Amino acid sequence: MDTRSPRRVEHQQTDKGYVPVYTTAVVEQPWDDYDATDHQTWATLFERQMAILPGRACREHLDALDGLRMSADRIPRFTDINRLLEAETGWTLVAVEGLLPELTFFEHLANRRFPVTWWIRKPEQIDYIAEPDLFHDLFGHVPLLFNPVFADYMQAYGRGGVKAHGLGEEALANLTRLYWYTVEFGLIRSAEGLRIYGAGIVSSKGESIHCLESAAPNRIGFDLERIMRTRYRIDSYQKTYFVIDDFEQLFAATRPDFTPIYARVAALPAIPAGTVLDTDTVFNRGTGEGWAEGGDV
Ligand code: PHE
Ligand code: CO
Repeated sequence: MDTRSPRRVEHQQTDKGYVPVYTTAVVEQPWDDYDATDHQTWATLFERQMAILPGRACREHLDALDGLRMSADRIPRFTDINRLLEAETGWTLVAVEGLLPELTFFEHLANRRFPVTWWIRKPEQIDYIAEPDLFHDLFGHVPLLFNPVFADYMQAYGRGGVKAHGLGEEALANLTRLYWYTVEFGLIRSAEGLRIYGAGIVSSKGESIHCLESAAPNRIGFDLERIMRTRYRIDSYQKTYFVIDDFEQLFAATRPDFTPIYARVAALPAIPAGTVLDTDTVFNRGTGEGWAEGGDV
């Protein structure tokens, strides 16, 4: 079997656009099938990020990379990560072929299982790959599952996802925006300044620098309903990043029942990705320089 050709079954409109959705199966990570190129790709990406993330990524993420003993040496074995992760927060990784249908994904999270794509991108995709691969999932998402508060937030998100799935398309779209602007592209304040916690940023060299150092994007204080209304870009760096004070704030703000919130948000217009409102807490109003028009989801 060519282990690098996961089995696509269907396409689905998700937060990544119209994308292939793979089988829902949980597989064994075929660790022995990784070749020297795969391990080298991991090493290149790992070293590149470790060179730029100190001082940019939040302390919780950097500490957990250490705590989970990830290194450039080789692609980690999920069984090794699981031993440490399960002892710390009760989460386990499960290997999957790629993106899952939404409900399947939510059910994994609700049970403290994080699906990780087992295959890694090819060398020519080092700088950009449209769909999540092993590096994005494992290096980007898994470290924060080592943090007790964030770990609980992710499970609550999964439960909320199961509920939103039953409420319909609009509730689901609103919840997906929350995931996008927190889990994937969130920034966090620290005593030393703004830091990254979003997996989509932390696994991208370009966006790790852009989100903090470019004058173009807006950096706005976290606001649940505001985020639920905000469109986003899937094909370029974000026009707006939302900033939390700490993970407790994020968890507390998302604790209320979302059902009435979805109803309220449904009556309000969506907000384009690059807009700043009078009611926003603005850390940094972007210049918008260099943005192409259109492209918001
Ligand atoms: N409180 C949310 C609900 O009732 C669930 C949730 C928690 C969603 C945390 C996202 C994050 O749906
Ligand atoms: Co992701």
